[in-house]
Amino acid sequence: MTNNYTYFVANWKMFGLNSSLKIIKKVISYLKKSKNKKNKVIFCVPYTLLNSFSKKVKSSNVSLGAQNCHHLNDYGAYTGSVNSKMIKDAGAKYVIIGHSENRFNGDDDNIINKKILSSLKNNLKIIFCIGETLIQKRKKITNKILTKQIFTGLKNVNNVNNIIIAYEPVWSIGTGIIPSQKELLNNILLIKKILKKKYSKKYSKLKILYGGSVNPKNIKNLNKSYSINGYLVGGASQLPNKFIDIIKKSYM
Ligand code: PGA
Repeated sequence: MTNNYTYFVANWKMFGLNSSLKIIKKVISYLKKSKNKKNKVIFCVPYTLLNSFSKKVKSSNVSLGAQNCHHLNDYGAYTGSVNSKMIKDAGAKYVIIGHSENRFNGDDDNIINKKILSSLKNNLKIIFCIGETLIQKRKKITNKILTKQIFTGLKNVNNVNNIIIAYEPVWSIGTGIIPSQKELLNNILLIKKILKKKYSKKYSKLKILYGGSVNPKNIKNLNKSYSINGYLVGGASQLPNKFIDIIKKSYM
């Protein structure tokens, strides 16, 4: 059952050249040797690398994803933009949508919803990022924020099979700070409660990942929050040894 898989999603952000394929190759050879096959490893690389990398990792145990897309399904006069149809055509299976770095650049919950609907139409699997900022956490409105992000972001999404939730507290991204075990568990339970409200029984099919400063040093602690299905890893995924270490240590 896919239910038992642990996800390791690498979010390369604005990083990577053609020569960076060697990072992925190192991870592929680790995965081949590893006894634990119960994992899904996904590299979300810049658009520029999708096409060539997808040919090179075709028969391997890793998949590729993009990090964003335009919300329209058709072509249009949107200089510099790439839509989900083009991403799929370039060889991606996944796409990250709703990352806080793009929310800061203007993606609101409605645009995010359009991006999700368009990506589903093009048979991409969605890694849907949600999370509160530090100010929202201090104001104690995390519940309200996560509820809005989920209800609006997933509006008209009835089939949850291709949706993966990534809980990324914004204050944790790139800061080296992670939530305490108790806080993380509470927020994951809160997300489950919101998903249950929206999807009733179907909610249990949804995988929930954690993202924000995941590294080989804190992975064991994070892993104690038994209800997590995997990790979205930014900075540490750009260094193969660190990324492999994260995978390794999450099985110890
Ligand atoms: P980080 O980034 O691991 O560098 O904190 C995570 C992310 O932005 O997805």
